[in-house]
Amino acid sequence: MSLTMEQVQLVTQSYALIARSPRSYSELFYHRLLLDHPFARALFPDDMTHQIVIFAKTMDVLVQNVANLDSLRPTLSDLAKRHVKYGVRAYQYAAVGKVLIDTFEEILGIGFTPDIRQAWEAVYRETAGAMIADAYCDPGHKPLE
Ligand code: HEM
Repeated sequence: MSLTMEQVQLVTQSYALIARSPRSYSELFYHRLLLDHPFARALFPDDMTHQIVIFAKTMDVLVQNVANLDSLRPTLSDLAKRHVKYGVRAYQYAAVGKVLIDTFEEILGIGFTPDIRQAWEAVYRETAGAMIADAYCDPGHKPLE
Protein backbone atom coordinates (compact mmCIF):
# COMPACT_ATOMS: atom_id res chain seq x y z
CA MET A 1 0.00 0.00 0.00
CA SER A 2 1.21 3.42 -0.91
CA LEU A 3 2.19 5.68 1.96
CA THR A 4 5.50 7.51 2.01
CA MET A 5 7.83 7.20 5.02
CA GLU A 6 7.07 10.83 5.79
CA GLN A 7 3.33 10.18 5.76
CA VAL A 8 3.80 7.24 8.11
CA GLN A 9 5.60 9.56 10.51
CA LEU A 10 3.01 12.33 10.21
CA VAL A 11 0.18 9.91 10.95
CA THR A 12 1.98 8.32 13.89
CA GLN A 13 3.00 11.63 15.45
CA SER A 14 -0.33 13.38 14.95
CA TYR A 15 -2.26 10.38 16.27
CA ALA A 16 -0.16 10.36 19.45
CA LEU A 17 -1.36 13.93 20.08
CA ILE A 18 -4.95 13.27 19.01
CA ALA A 19 -5.27 10.15 21.20
CA ARG A 20 -3.76 11.98 24.17
CA SER A 21 -6.13 14.93 23.90
CA PRO A 22 -8.44 15.45 26.89
CA ARG A 23 -11.34 15.49 24.40
CA SER A 24 -12.09 11.98 23.19
CA TYR A 25 -11.72 12.13 19.41
CA SER A 26 -13.85 9.02 19.07
CA GLU A 27 -16.71 10.57 21.02
CA LEU A 28 -16.44 13.78 19.02
CA PHE A 29 -16.28 11.82 15.77
CA TYR A 30 -19.51 9.92 16.44
CA HIS A 31 -21.20 13.06 17.73
CA ARG A 32 -20.45 14.83 14.44
CA LEU A 33 -21.23 11.78 12.31
CA LEU A 34 -24.66 11.18 13.83
CA LEU A 35 -25.51 14.87 13.77
CA ASP A 36 -24.43 15.48 10.16
CA HIS A 37 -25.50 12.18 8.58
CA PRO A 38 -28.98 10.81 9.27
CA PHE A 39 -28.05 7.59 7.42
CA ALA A 40 -25.52 6.87 10.16
CA ARG A 41 -27.99 7.61 12.97
CA ALA A 42 -30.27 4.97 11.50
CA LEU A 43 -27.50 2.32 11.50
CA PHE A 44 -26.02 2.74 14.98
CA PRO A 45 -27.54 1.81 18.36
CA ASP A 46 -28.81 4.55 20.70
CA ASP A 47 -26.13 3.87 23.26
CA MET A 48 -22.78 4.57 21.59
CA THR A 49 -20.57 3.99 24.67
CA HIS A 50 -19.16 0.67 23.46
CA GLN A 51 -18.76 1.83 19.88
CA ILE A 52 -16.75 4.88 20.97
CA VAL A 53 -14.28 2.66 22.87
CA ILE A 54 -13.97 -0.08 20.25
CA PHE A 55 -13.50 2.34 17.36
CA ALA A 56 -10.60 4.05 19.16
CA LYS A 57 -9.00 0.65 19.86
CA THR A 58 -9.27 -0.23 16.17
CA MET A 59 -7.69 3.08 15.22
CA ASP A 60 -4.84 2.35 17.66
CA VAL A 61 -4.15 -0.93 15.85
CA LEU A 62 -4.43 0.77 12.45
CA VAL A 63 -1.87 3.40 13.39
CA GLN A 64 0.48 0.83 14.98
CA ASN A 65 0.52 -0.95 11.62
CA VAL A 66 0.35 2.08 9.37
CA ALA A 67 3.77 1.37 7.85
CA ASN A 68 2.46 -1.98 6.66
CA LEU A 69 -1.29 -1.77 6.16
CA ASP A 70 -1.18 -4.90 4.03
CA SER A 71 -0.60 -6.92 7.19
CA LEU A 72 -4.07 -5.84 8.37
CA ARG A 73 -5.82 -6.91 5.18
CA PRO A 74 -7.45 -10.08 6.60
CA THR A 75 -8.66 -8.16 9.68
CA LEU A 76 -9.98 -5.30 7.55
CA SER A 77 -11.63 -7.74 5.21
CA ASP A 78 -13.54 -9.42 8.07
CA LEU A 79 -14.43 -6.01 9.53
CA ALA A 80 -15.78 -4.86 6.17
CA LYS A 81 -17.88 -7.99 5.71
CA ARG A 82 -19.43 -7.41 9.16
CA HIS A 83 -20.20 -3.87 8.02
CA VAL A 84 -22.21 -5.24 5.09
CA LYS A 85 -24.36 -7.06 7.67
CA TYR A 86 -24.75 -3.84 9.67
CA GLY A 87 -26.32 -2.37 6.53
CA VAL A 88 -23.37 -0.13 5.57
CA ARG A 89 -23.15 0.74 1.86
CA ALA A 90 -19.87 1.24 -0.01
CA TYR A 91 -20.63 4.87 -0.93
CA GLN A 92 -21.04 5.77 2.76
CA TYR A 93 -17.34 5.26 3.47
CA ALA A 94 -16.36 8.60 1.91
CA ALA A 95 -18.61 10.68 4.18
CA VAL A 96 -17.45 8.81 7.28
CA GLY A 97 -13.79 9.36 6.35
CA LYS A 98 -14.36 13.07 5.91
CA VAL A 99 -16.00 13.39 9.31
CA LEU A 100 -13.14 11.45 10.92
CA ILE A 101 -10.44 13.62 9.38
CA ASP A 102 -12.36 16.84 10.13
CA THR A 103 -12.60 15.66 13.74
CA PHE A 104 -8.82 15.25 13.88
CA GLU A 105 -8.51 18.79 12.56
CA GLU A 106 -10.89 20.08 15.19
CA ILE A 107 -8.75 18.45 17.91
CA LEU A 108 -5.35 19.60 16.61
CA GLY A 109 -6.41 23.02 15.30
CA ILE A 110 -3.63 24.80 13.39
CA GLY A 111 -1.31 21.88 14.24
CA PHE A 112 -3.26 19.89 11.66
CA THR A 113 -1.21 20.95 8.63
CA PRO A 114 -2.16 20.22 5.00
CA ASP A 115 0.57 17.53 4.92
CA ILE A 116 -0.97 15.82 7.94
CA ARG A 117 -4.43 15.95 6.33
CA GLN A 118 -3.06 14.43 3.13
CA ALA A 119 -1.35 11.67 5.08
CA TRP A 120 -4.60 10.79 6.87
CA GLU A 121 -6.50 10.92 3.60
CA ALA A 122 -4.03 8.40 2.21
CA VAL A 123 -4.50 6.11 5.22
CA TYR A 124 -8.28 6.28 4.94
CA ARG A 125 -8.19 5.78 1.17
CA GLU A 126 -6.05 2.65 1.56
CA THR A 127 -8.09 1.28 4.45
CA ALA A 128 -11.57 2.00 3.10
CA GLY A 129 -10.45 0.98 -0.39
CA ALA A 130 -9.37 -2.44 0.86
CA MET A 131 -12.57 -2.85 2.91
CA ILE A 132 -14.82 -1.92 0.00
CA ALA A 133 -12.91 -4.10 -2.47
CA ASP A 134 -13.17 -7.15 -0.21
CA ALA A 135 -16.76 -6.72 0.96
CA TYR A 136 -18.64 -5.42 -2.04
CA CYS A 137 -17.20 -7.47 -4.87
CA ASP A 138 -19.73 -9.40 -6.89
CA PRO A 139 -19.33 -13.06 -5.80
CA GLY A 140 -20.38 -14.20 -9.28
CA HIS A 141 -17.65 -12.18 -10.93
CA LYS A 142 -14.58 -14.07 -12.06
CA PRO A 143 -11.35 -12.08 -12.39
CA LEU A 144 -9.84 -12.06 -15.88
CA GLU A 145 -7.26 -14.80 -16.45
C1 HEM B 1 -12.21 2.58 8.01
C2 HEM B 1 -13.50 2.58 8.25
C3 HEM B 1 -14.18 1.97 9.46
C4 HEM B 1 -13.66 1.40 10.60
C5 HEM B 1 -12.19 1.24 10.98
C6 HEM B 1 -14.78 0.97 11.40
C7 HEM B 1 -14.69 0.32 12.63
C8 HEM B 1 -15.73 -0.28 13.29
C9 HEM B 1 -15.61 -1.17 14.43
C10 HEM B 1 -14.30 -1.59 15.09
C11 HEM B 1 -16.86 -1.59 14.77
C12 HEM B 1 -17.22 -2.56 15.92
C13 HEM B 1 -17.92 -3.80 15.46
C14 HEM B 1 -17.07 -4.79 14.67
O1 HEM B 1 -15.85 -4.92 14.90
O2 HEM B 1 -17.64 -5.45 13.80
C15 HEM B 1 -17.79 -0.95 13.85
C16 HEM B 1 -19.15 -1.11 13.86
C17 HEM B 1 -20.01 -0.41 13.07
N1 HEM B 1 -19.68 0.50 12.09
FE1 HEM B 1 -17.83 0.92 11.44
N2 HEM B 1 -15.94 1.30 10.77
C18 HEM B 1 -15.62 1.91 9.58
C19 HEM B 1 -16.50 2.40 8.64
C20 HEM B 1 -17.85 2.51 8.82
C21 HEM B 1 -18.75 3.16 7.91
C22 HEM B 1 -18.38 3.82 6.58
C23 HEM B 1 -19.98 3.08 8.45
C24 HEM B 1 -21.24 3.68 7.86
C25 HEM B 1 -22.07 4.37 8.58
C26 HEM B 1 -19.86 2.31 9.69
C27 HEM B 1 -20.90 1.93 10.52
C28 HEM B 1 -20.82 0.98 11.52
C29 HEM B 1 -21.98 0.35 12.17
C30 HEM B 1 -23.45 0.60 11.83
C31 HEM B 1 -21.48 -0.53 13.15
C32 HEM B 1 -22.28 -1.46 14.05
C33 HEM B 1 -22.73 -0.77 15.31
C34 HEM B 1 -23.57 -1.72 16.16
O3 HEM B 1 -24.60 -2.21 15.70
O4 HEM B 1 -23.16 -1.96 17.31
N3 HEM B 1 -18.55 2.00 9.88
N4 HEM B 1 -17.08 -0.16 12.98
